[in-house]
Amino acid sequence: MAEAFNDLVLTGGKAERYAAVAEEIASVLEGEPNLTARMATVASMLAASFDHYFWTGFYVVDPERPDELVVGPYQGTLGCLRIAFGRGVCGTAAATGTTQVVDDVHAFPGHIACDSRSASEIVVPVFDAAGRLIGVFDVDSEAPAAFDATDAEGLEAILKQVFG
Ligand code: SME
Repeated sequence: MAEAFNDLVLTGGKAERYAAVAEEIASVLEGEPNLTARMATVASMLAASFDHYFWTGFYVVDPERPDELVVGPYQGTLGCLRIAFGRGVCGTAAATGTTQVVDDVHAFPGHIACDSRSASEIVVPVFDAAGRLIGVFDVDSEAPAAFDATDAEGLEAILKQVFG
């Protein structure tokens, strides 16, 4: 299933795939301002497009507790509900505002294991049009070292397009 969404079978390398998914996401979300709908669509369409994705979703900045992330729309097994800024890979991405690519999550200090099958991970901070951090986008893989600069660039471009 992770090869297609709607009726479109994705072909090509990873960079081409990210570009194709970006176009599909833009067309589905045209005219839809609701943030939850936008996040759910991004999580669903990306999860359906890449075989190396195991857990795919958002942790959003909690307006009630601005130094804490709370789980948002996701695809995958049960995710942890809350992550403090600075904790684990997601908390580090939120605290630093920079993308984290982790080849071996077990070697990452303070990694939060929501599902022990996760072996590697990428977390990209998500900013709104005013440049404010609204959350992070987290993808975990069962394979070690599953993510590289192509994933980082592809995801950063999609998240900027959809939320920036
Ligand atoms: N592994 C993450 C926690 C979130 S889950 O993997 C869904 C982390 O250390 O930030």
